[in-house]
Amino acid sequence: MSDEVARIAAMFDALAPTYDTTGVIFFGPIADGLIEILRPGPGQRILDLGCGRGAVLARLAPTVDTAVGIDISPEMVARSRAAFAPWPNIRVEVGDARDPDPQLGLFNAVTASLVLFFLPDPVAALRRWRDRLTTGGRCVISIFGAPGAAWQAVDEVFLPYLPAQLRDARTAGPLSPSSPDSTVEQLFTAAGYTDVHTVARPLDTRFAGIEQWEQFSWSTGQRAMWLAVPEPERPAVRATVTDILRSSPHPDGGYVLSQTVRYISGVA
Ligand SMILES: C[S@@+](CC[C@H](N)C(=O)[O-])C[C@H]1O[C@@H](n2cnc3c(N)ncnc32)[C@H](O)[C@@H]1O
Repeated sequence: MSDEVARIAAMFDALAPTYDTTGVIFFGPIADGLIEILRPGPGQRILDLGCGRGAVLARLAPTVDTAVGIDISPEMVARSRAAFAPWPNIRVEVGDARDPDPQLGLFNAVTASLVLFFLPDPVAALRRWRDRLTTGGRCVISIFGAPGAAWQAVDEVFLPYLPAQLRDARTAGPLSPSSPDSTVEQLFTAAGYTDVHTVARPLDTRFAGIEQWEQFSWSTGQRAMWLAVPEPERPAVRATVTDILRSSPHPDGGYVLSQTVRYISGVA
């Protein structure tokens, strides 16, 4: 495992106990959008890469013949396995999404919600995913698109602290939120997919208060941003983010941060 992938696995192990448990409604609606585009049906076999705590698997469970969830984080896998124990059609395994084990067999679809931007060589990964698809099978992923002004302002508070690699991934990489749809689609085309499409959906995320936003940010991939801030400077960062959130109240109370989620699909 490369150092970078080991760092990501360790970070998701550390946050797995709190991931998607802070009361912030976030991963579910993103998975709903993916399922709407995938339209899974009875009799299908689906491979969900970077399954985390199963936002996508939970939506596949009532419909499909089999879904296999793969995640690099043993702590995520342990929790998902426990959660899906009542579902004999759902299997969850530790594995590397960069190169899913050929012994898993072939699938009607491969899904990866908020995962591809963690992988160092997305085109190589997308090629390996295509190898796991039956002819005409589909790959459907989600990534972030343009953030709203308040979400972008929060990001910008952290940017000066981030190591170059993380900063580039947030601001300039082919899977960064500002990357044009055509650039992302070219990754799919380069990996051999046809009929490549992008659908963008707005997502408003509501936080009851500053504390909930902070718990949420530590419980997701944004944890990497906090870890980059030296501890003595965290109170100042928190204060700045507090001002930003206060400038973005939700009409029903608390605060709202908006962004776009993009769904990209291709056919093998
Ligand atoms: C943002 S979470 C998304 C989880 C889930 N798909 C969801 O929508 O809630 C990213 C997930 O990708 C996993 N991941 C990151 N790199 C991976 C890799 N190389 N192989 C497998 N899983 C990976 C992480 O452990 C984490 O569970």
